[in-house]
Amino acid sequence: MAKIIDGKKISAAVRDGVKAEVAKLKEQGIHTCLAVIIVGDDPASKIYVANKEKACEYTGIESRKYALPAETKMEELLALIDKLNNDKTVNGILCQLPLPKGLDEKRVIEAISPQKDVDAFCHENVGKIMTGEFDFLPCTPAGIMEMLEYEGIDPAGKNCVVIGRSNIVGKPMGMLLLHKNGTVTICHSRTRDLPEVTRRADILVSAVGKANFVTADMVGDGAVVIDVGMNRDENGKLCGDVLFSEVEKKASAITPVPGGVGPMTIAVLMKNTLTAARRQNNL
Ligand code: GUN
Repeated sequence: MAKIIDGKKISAAVRDGVKAEVAKLKEQGIHTCLAVIIVGDDPASKIYVANKEKACEYTGIESRKYALPAETKMEELLALIDKLNNDKTVNGILCQLPLPKGLDEKRVIEAISPQKDVDAFCHENVGKIMTGEFDFLPCTPAGIMEMLEYEGIDPAGKNCVVIGRSNIVGKPMGMLLLHKNGTVTICHSRTRDLPEVTRRADILVSAVGKANFVTADMVGDGAVVIDVGMNRDENGKLCGDVLFSEVEKKASAITPVPGGVGPMTIAVLMKNTLTAARRQNNL
């Protein structure tokens, strides 16, 4: 049976570290603040934003929420981002995705000042991930790296297979594993004989977004399996990409859903906001 990697426990340790550092900044008269923009009323986005607000409250970071109606015009959204870019009391800006139809996500991402882009989504921050000279790392891949480190799992020399090539998870995940000297393969919908590739993984990361996509025949004995999926099964129950009941019998370690990668993503967001506050105060 696999070891269950406890994202709640590991993320609590990260959040406690941030809380202590935020308190230290406060003693120096520096107040840390994250602005969160949510447009429309997508139920999943509302839950994510509420969880981010909770994490801010816990760590002592001020959270300023801007909830805009779905009919918001691009110009209005860009004007708000411009105002927040120029507001010295705001250290980080996050615009929850996806945006309602008619709003241009790419333009929104590039409008956020790179120094306040705590998601690390803009071109400048993405480019820095390639060279390894980053200030911020995208929250989900960075959270996964923290989990691996906490569990003493070193990617160096290992076969690391990522399923999914999104800009937010798959591509940066591959890059971070490469920075840690993993031998990285990124798979996608056009990959030939996917099970043959994934079976060779020592570390397998699935970021596909399909319930029960990764079955036991796709996993080698003793693999470390990281599940980024947040899906609903046929009964409407929250589940990941990995068929947990089967795969846990083969893996050496596995993340559950919920309670795995999800809490880590938010903990890294807090870390990035702290980093932004430090940088903006030349610390
Ligand atoms: N929507 C789903 N995940 C994320 C995230 O990490 N950041 C933002 N801004 N939107 C998201």
